[in-house]
Amino acid sequence: MIEGGYPLEGEIRISGAKNSTLPILAACLLCDEPMEISNVPHLQDVTTTIELLRLMGVEVTIDEKMRLEVDPSSIRRYFAPYDLVKTMRASILVLGPLLTHFGEAEVSLPGGCAIGVRPVNLHLDGLRRMGADIRVEEGYIRARADRLRGARILMDTVSVTGTENLMMAATLAEGQTVIENAAREPEVVDLANCLVRMGARIEGSGTDRIAIDGVRKLHATHHEVLPDRIETGTYLVAAALTRGHVRLRETRPELLDAVLAKLREAGARIHPGANDIEIEMRARARSVSVKTAPYPAFPTDMQAQFTALNAVAAGTGTVTETIFENRFMHIHELQRMGADIRLEGNTAIVQGVEGLRAAPVMATDLRASASLVLAALVAEGQTLVDRIYHIDRGYECIEEKLLQLGARIRRLPEGNRPVAEPAIRAAAAVRLSQA
Ligand code: UD1
Repeated sequence: MIEGGYPLEGEIRISGAKNSTLPILAACLLCDEPMEISNVPHLQDVTTTIELLRLMGVEVTIDEKMRLEVDPSSIRRYFAPYDLVKTMRASILVLGPLLTHFGEAEVSLPGGCAIGVRPVNLHLDGLRRMGADIRVEEGYIRARADRLRGARILMDTVSVTGTENLMMAATLAEGQTVIENAAREPEVVDLANCLVRMGARIEGSGTDRIAIDGVRKLHATHHEVLPDRIETGTYLVAAALTRGHVRLRETRPELLDAVLAKLREAGARIHPGANDIEIEMRARARSVSVKTAPYPAFPTDMQAQFTALNAVAAGTGTVTETIFENRFMHIHELQRMGADIRLEGNTAIVQGVEGLRAAPVMATDLRASASLVLAALVAEGQTLVDRIYHIDRGYECIEEKLLQLGARIRRLPEGNRPVAEPAIRAAAAVRLSQA
């Protein structure tokens, strides 16, 4: 439940990156000793990954600072069941490590998801090129290989987890693997850095050509996860939307060039430091146009948040999505709050309005739900955002962090919702009818 209209002021700490943590946890399956991972964000997707590792027999211990010790030496099964994979597609990241280290893996085929089809053909084709025998049977990917062989793999679409899966598989393969048209996302680089510290021989991460020389064995290391650039970007937009002044600590501004350029264009004053970033925005934002593309271009994971910013900005902005075919579900919810948005193909045309009004809305996926929270921060009245488990997948303690910045936000216990919801629906209906 969020009461809009309060500018965000103050400072918060940015958490470790979800999209780094998940592949790095999978990378623990590549060695036989306890790995130590720090700056791990407390997120549902991380909990799911830990559950998956434990199910395989891996021992995972967590201290109060979310430092993880992952000991794969007790692994018993090379198996990722449908029940877990269906809740988190990134579970596919265990496929490459299991196959290359243990010679076999059985991983449920992820289904479609709310934002698009999201196939895994590139992961499977790459592993096949490295000599794996892969069958898809009864909804499961069943893969076997004696020892994978290095190969030249040209990925015809840039895929983040695809690149990560193949890079991990190649670390223990025989000979050299070259991944062309590789993803350049900072999280791929973070994973590569961790693998190199484990003894892998990798060159070119962060470019579109990664070369991996396979080694016989990897050893354990300690790795500190990179800060989350998408969480950083989300709070920057929150500050801009509410016309506030916010400082974000323990982050890496240089990973957000495309996002910062758009925020400046919208009128924000931004001061990046070495490990922090400050944003100040006192006037109404100007509309901006964004088009998503692989890193270093504008991230698809920030698209929904900029749609919310444009919704109340001066002028008309367009938001073009080129990565996922169905990533516009937040638009219908934003429209219910009074946003003026038209969808034409893969482009949302957003005509900024003076203000949004509270309405009960429903989260549909991780970043879409973030955009609803952002919109609620500036909407008049109290907005109830339902199905917030989507937010908990990717934002650590979002309500605590927003509270710290002065937002009026409260998490309602499950049992409270049926009571609160009709009241809010009624209030929203009155406001809408008056508008
Ligand atoms: C990762 C991120 C996600 C982000 C996305 C795009 C993680 C855990 N998740 O997801 O937050 O939104 O990158 O930046 O890191 N594709 C294929 N075949 C494949 C694989 C992908 O056609 O085998 C297509 C997808 O449908 C999509 C495009 O490639 O159109 C990019 O997807 P990909 O980079 O693979 O996304 P994820 O790695 O799943």
